[in-house]
Amino acid sequence: MTILVTGGTGTLGKLVVPQLTGAGYTVRVLSRRGGVNADGVEHVQGDLLSEDGLDLTGIDTVVHLAGGAKGDAQAAAHLAKAAAAAGVRHLVHISVIGADTMPIGYFREKLGAEQAIRDSGVPWTILRAAQFNSLTYTVAQKMAGLPVVPVPGGLRFQPVDERDVADRIAELALGEPAGAVPDLTGPTVYTLRELVDSYLQSQGKRRPHLPIRMPGKVGRAYRTAQNLTLTGATTGKHTWEDYLGAHC
Ligand SMILES: NC(=O)c1ccc[n+]([C@@H]2O[C@H](COP(=O)([O-])OP(=O)(O)OC[C@H]3O[C@@H](n4cnc5c(N)ncnc54)[C@H](OP(=O)(O)O)[C@@H]3O)[C@@H](O)[C@H]2O)c1
Repeated sequence: MTILVTGGTGTLGKLVVPQLTGAGYTVRVLSRRGGVNADGVEHVQGDLLSEDGLDLTGIDTVVHLAGGAKGDAQAAAHLAKAAAAAGVRHLVHISVIGADTMPIGYFREKLGAEQAIRDSGVPWTILRAAQFNSLTYTVAQKMAGLPVVPVPGGLRFQPVDERDVADRIAELALGEPAGAVPDLTGPTVYTLRELVDSYLQSQGKRRPHLPIRMPGKVGRAYRTAQNLTLTGATTGKHTWEDYLGAHC
């Protein structure tokens, strides 16, 4: 059986693909830039923002991990249509916690993508995850690069390790369609200041902070924890501290 992994060359995808081949499946990876074929892995190039050439004949399960700054809803709609036309058995999709509550374009796109998957007519599974450790690390690194670190008060995050997300996605892809499964978060909730400070400490650096207030509805949404799942989530086992330790 062949599993299509969209975005199989990305941060998450690269961790999911070996798990699927390791379980005995042939994997086709779709991305715009492509990659090098390997045992059990065939790379195809394609842009999900266009419907052209999107033929999923012979695909049993689609694991949709492709995503970008813009157009995720449209991309998912194209994929969902092609999956339905090809009689795909299971469509697995990664989304983000806060997709339905955060007033930010990226989150709205993720909600639109979820809707396209739900409306596809193909049996589906959707997992919402918190921000990955790698993304959190990049944000902390950028903030710590400033001479004075502006820290908006009241912002909290529960970063999850991409290895834990990959494990869960692989498990879901190899199981039966399960609908909306419990959100996946990291084990701990941190303030943004704690994340930046722990990053600085791991680098042996210090920076002065400038407390600021994030204005408007975005600031309010963060302060009221619309980006968090505080109850009922599954939690990953790898910590932010593990990640920092491995990257200092
Ligand atoms: N990072 C996080 O903190 C986080 C948290 C929750 C959910 N998510 C979601 O998890 C998914 C994977 O995230 P990631 O961090 O692994 O992303 P990533 O590292 O940026 O990888 C994105 C992947 O998608 C492919 N891609 C992007 N646009 C495409 C298009 N139009 N057509 C075909 N392929 C396309 C990219 O390859 P090419 O550039 O070669 O096309 C790449 O393989 C995304 O949907 C993201 O929204 C991420």
